Amino acid sequence: MASVEFKGIVKRFKDNTVLNGVDVDIKDHEFVVIVGPSGCGKTTLLRMLAGLEEVTDGEILIDALRVNELHPSKRQIAMVFQDYALYPHMTVEENMSFALRLKRTGRSEIEARVQEAAGILQLQKLLKRMPKQLSGGQRQRVAIGRAIVRNPKVFLFDEPLSNLDAKLREEMRVEIAKLYQRLNATIIYVTHDQVEAMTLAGRIVVMNKGIVQQVGSPIEVYRKPANLFVAGFIGSPTMNFFSGQLRSEGDRLLFVNENMKLPIPSFLLHDGDRHAGREVVVGVRPDDVLVGRDGAECSGKMEAVLEVCELLGHRENLYLKLGGLRLLATVEAFFDRSPGSAVTLCFNYRNMHVFDAATERRISE
Ligand SMILES: Nc1ncnc2c1ncn2[C@@H]1O[C@H](COP(=O)(O)OP(=O)(O)OP(=O)(O)O)[C@@H](O)[C@H]1O
Ligand SMILES: [Mg+2]
Repeated sequence: MASVEFKGIVKRFKDNTVLNGVDVDIKDHEFVVIVGPSGCGKTTLLRMLAGLEEVTDGEILIDALRVNELHPSKRQIAMVFQDYALYPHMTVEENMSFALRLKRTGRSEIEARVQEAAGILQLQKLLKRMPKQLSGGQRQRVAIGRAIVRNPKVFLFDEPLSNLDAKLREEMRVEIAKLYQRLNATIIYVTHDQVEAMTLAGRIVVMNKGIVQQVGSPIEVYRKPANLFVAGFIGSPTMNFFSGQLRSEGDRLLFVNENMKLPIPSFLLHDGDRHAGREVVVGVRPDDVLVGRDGAECSGKMEAVLEVCELLGHRENLYLKLGGLRLLATVEAFFDRSPGSAVTLCFNYRNMHVFDAATERRISE
C-alpha cells in the first residue's frame, strides 16, 4: 500500500478556482474520509489523484514520487464511484475481471483474484449473474470487487453508499470497515454522511469552497472544531450558535447578549480580561443543552419555552425558545412536558465552544 501527499494543490476550470491550495498528507494504511458540502471539490481532488483530471498547480506524491504527469494506468489506484458504473452486458465475474483482462493478466491469476475478492465480499454465488439481477447493495459490492482484484496501492471511494437505503448503507458501512481491516489498504473515502465519516475515518478532512478547513481524528474534529464552518458541519443535529460579546465583571468573564448572561470559565478561555469587549459566537451542541437538570457541569440557568418535541426513540429533540432565540436540545426520552410549557435549561459549559465573530476561528480551549 502507499502514502499520498497533496502539496499546494490548485485546480482551475477556466477562471473558476475549485481547489485553492490543498495540503494533506495521508499515511500508508490510513483511512481518510473527506467531507464537505456539495461543490467543494471532493470529487475533483480524487479524480486528480487517479489521474483523470489535470493538476493546475501543486504536486501530488504517491509513495514520495511525483505523479502529476504519470498516466492513470500506472498509478495503481482504484476508484469506486457512487453510481457503480458496472457494464450491464457482462456478468459479475466478467465485470470484476475486466481490468485484468485488458492488462492481459494470465487466466489462472485472474481466476484466483476474482475468487479471492468474491470471497471477501461474499459474491461467490452471484458470479454468473448480470448486474440487473442484483440488488443495489450487491451491485455496490461488485463495484468494490472490481477495485479489489486490481490490487491497487490506494482505494478511492466517492460516496459509494449514497444510492442505498438506510439499512443497506449501515450494513455496507460495516462491510467496508471489515474490508479495511482485512486489506489493510490506504483508503480515501468521500461522503456526505456524518455517521460514515465519524465511524470509518482514522482522520477526517473537512473541506469548504476548495479549502481544507481542518484535518483531525473524528473525535478531535467533533470536540474541537477549528472554526465556525467545521462546528456547524460536523455533528448531527447541528450545533446551536449564539452571537454576543465577552465582558469583564469583577474577576469573571461573561458572555452576554439580549437573552443570555453566561459565565465563561477560565479553562475555556485563559486570561479572560484579554478577551473583554470581543464579539464572539458561542456554540453548544444539542446534547450539551441540559434541560431541567442541576449539576456541577451546569452554566447559568435560563428559562425557555418548549415549542415542539420530536421523539426519536431513545432520545428526544426539544425545540426551545429563549427570549428571541431558538435552540435545540437533545434529551433522554421521555421528556414529559407539553408544548408551550416553561422549562429551565443550562449548558454543559465543559463542552462550550467560543469562536471569534470576525475571523470565525475557535478561540476557546
Ligand atoms: N469538468 C468540469 N468543468 C468545469 N467545472 C467543473 C468540472 N468538474 C467540476 N467542476 C466544478 O468544480 C466544483 C467542484 O466539483 P466537485 O465535483 O469536485 O464537487 P464535490 O465536492 O464532489 O460535490 P458533490 O458533493 O456534489 O459531489 C463544482 O463547482 C463543479 O461545478
Ligand atoms: Mg462529488
